[in-house]
Amino acid sequence: MSFHKKLERNSLLMLVCIILVVAIGGIVEIVPLFTIESTIKQVKGVRPYSPLELAGRNIYIREGCYVCHSQMIRAFRDEVERYGPYSLAAESMYDHPFQWGSKRTGPDLARVGGKYSNEWHVEHFLDPRELVPESVMPPYSFMADADLDYEDMAAHLKTNRHVGVPYTDEMVAYAVADVEAQVDPDGDIEGLMARYPKAVVANFDGDSSRITEMDALIAYLQMLGTLVDFTGTSAAQPDGED
Ligand code: HEC
Repeated sequence: MSFHKKLERNSLLMLVCIILVVAIGGIVEIVPLFTIESTIKQVKGVRPYSPLELAGRNIYIREGCYVCHSQMIRAFRDEVERYGPYSLAAESMYDHPFQWGSKRTGPDLARVGGKYSNEWHVEHFLDPRELVPESVMPPYSFMADADLDYEDMAAHLKTNRHVGVPYTDEMVAYAVADVEAQVDPDGDIEGLMARYPKAVVANFDGDSSRITEMDALIAYLQMLGTLVDFTGTSAAQPDGED
C-alpha cells in the first residue's frame, strides 16, 4: 500500500516502472523473431532464385506489380480451388522483400508458373486487352525493347546472401553466365540446372538477339509456385515436408 502511494506521487519512479513494464512486453514480442529460421518449416524443392529470375523479380518490384497482384494463396477452399495449393511459408523464405501483397485488382500470382506459355505472357504484356478485353492491367510493351541490365547480378546475389539467402560462391561467380544460359535453350545449361533445379530455360520474349527485361520478368513468372511438388497429395499436404 505504502509502495503504491510512493509510486503514484513520484513521477520519476512511475516513469521507470512504466518503461520496465513496456520493455518486458517488447521483449516477449521481439525475441521469437530471432528464432525465425527454426520457425519456418523446411520444404523440399525450395531454392534461391536463379540470377535471371531474381532480375525479373527486381523488375516486378520496380514496376509495382504488387499493387494489383498478391502472391499468397490463403488456406480457404475457394482460394485453393481457384489458384492451387495454398502458399507455404517456406515458398517465400528467400524473398527480400516478400511479395504477399494486400490488394487483388488482378489475380493472385503465387502459382502462375507454367499456367500460360511464354508467348501468351509476351502478348499480354504488349497489350493485356488483346487477350482479356475487360482487363484493366496497363501494357508494359517497353520491356520488350529494354535491354536487361545484368552485369551487376553478382552483387545482387551477394546482397541477398547478406540477408540470409544461401547463395554459394559458385553461384555468385556464375551469376552473369547463368543469366545468359537461361535464355539460350541451345546452349550448355548443365551448370545452371545443377545450381537451380527446375529453372525454366527458354528464349522467353522470342527475340534471341538480346536479353531484355521482358525475358527476365517472364522467367520469374514461369517459376512462381513451381518449386514444391504437390502431386499425389491433397492440396493441403505438400509432398516432401519434413
Ligand atoms: C492496375 C492493376 C494492375 C497492375 C499494375 C498489373 N496488373 Fe497484372 N493483371 C491485372 C488484372 C486486372 C488482370 C486480369 C486480367 C488480365 O489477365 O489482363 C491481370 C492479369 C495478370 C496476369 C495473368 C494472371 C492469370 O492468372 O491469369 C499476369 C501474369 C500479370 N497480370 C502480371 C503482371 C505483372 C508482372 C505486372 C507488373 C509488371 C502487372 N501484372 C501489373 C491488373 C494489374
